[in-house]
Amino acid sequence: MRLLVTGGAGFIGSNFVRHVLAERRDVHVRVLDKLTYAGSRDNLADVLDDARLEFVEGDICDQATVESAADGADAIVHLAAESHVDRSIISAEAAVQTNFVGSFRVFEAARAAGVQRLLHVSTDEVYGACLGEPFVETDPLEPRNPYSATKAGADHLAHSYFVTHGLPVVIARPSNNYGPWQYPEKLIPFFVWRALRDEHLPVYGDGMQVRDWLHVEDHCRALLLLLERGAPGEAYNIHGGDERPNLATIRIILDELGKPEGLIRHVEDRPGHDVRYAMDASKLGALGWEPRVEWESGIRATVRWFAEHRDWMERATARGKAYFEEWYAGR
Ligand code: NAD
Ligand code: DAU
Repeated sequence: MRLLVTGGAGFIGSNFVRHVLAERRDVHVRVLDKLTYAGSRDNLADVLDDARLEFVEGDICDQATVESAADGADAIVHLAAESHVDRSIISAEAAVQTNFVGSFRVFEAARAAGVQRLLHVSTDEVYGACLGEPFVETDPLEPRNPYSATKAGADHLAHSYFVTHGLPVVIARPSNNYGPWQYPEKLIPFFVWRALRDEHLPVYGDGMQVRDWLHVEDHCRALLLLLERGAPGEAYNIHGGDERPNLATIRIILDELGKPEGLIRHVEDRPGHDVRYAMDASKLGALGWEPRVEWESGIRATVRWFAEHRDWMERATARGKAYFEEWYAGR
């Protein structure tokens, strides 16, 4: 199988590339990645010299670039995105361009290449905040922040390409991922980074917002399954099944690092903050998938991984210095 992975130098992308190279001998993986602040060759360092992996630096918003990268591909896993909600609040420009326009370019390139599968990686955030029963795939999309709105727009466009053009699109809707190589602007690695430096942890609002954590290894297994066995035109929820209020997650981080709870500081809330995400993933379960990584041991191992990779965190956070200064000023 010849596979194009967009965003393969990011958090989930690099884990997915490693997973597919380990699980499928007869595969050629081409990564297309712009190497924004969030992406780095560092994240793929241990597999970059695998002859089955090819790295192309380029922007999915450029039609010629993405068409050339998709040329000869049997399938595409589309992960490239501006993935951070807080950044999309400061400015939605990059998210609109990459997540919506860039996805459009990927869908066009997939048509031109005649791929057998396009796995479009969306998010649980497209459903909006969950105030009742966990969302199922047929629920309406009601995104509430600029990031999730761009992702929902791309989901609709992807589905339209299935209906109108017969593009064999499968949509994945994963919940909050955690694990190695996550860029340290997201809750878990960011708070590990701050706690290691004895800096306060800026908890938005009361910290009782609920997230359903999915280990990135479980996620990658689900993505490979959907790539090979997902039904075209269908969407699939992927959850960890571990709903936790943020404060409970933060307390585990502090405990694992041996740091005091006094580092917690409640700050101004994120505008449009979704209070809870929750999904039913039984449609994916029917294909034989279930999460395997147990939450508490998974997060503790993840915290230790970040603590053991301080040089990597140093380089990654240096790339985001201006953002951290702007967003956390006064928080
Ligand atoms: P990430 O920010 O860690 O990585 C994104 C990657 O995309 C980076 O390598 C970046 O360089 C690349 N990229 C960005 N813009 C690009 C462009 N214009 N052209 C080419 N490459 C570009 O993100 P992630 O957490 O790995 O998320 C991957 C995908 O999964 C995204 O689509 C995201 O919306 C989705 N998702 C993430 C989570 C999560 O918890 N991290 C949960 C659900 C869904
Ligand atoms: O649910 C899936 C989504 O999960 C993905 O689509 C996104 O790409 C990914 O970034 C993530 O979005 P969240 O907004 O849920 O993740 P984040 O790590 O930014 O925040 C997790 C929770 O922690 C959220 O309730 C906000 C809170 N938080 C986060 C940060 C960075 C804080 O309280 N303080 C912080 O400084």
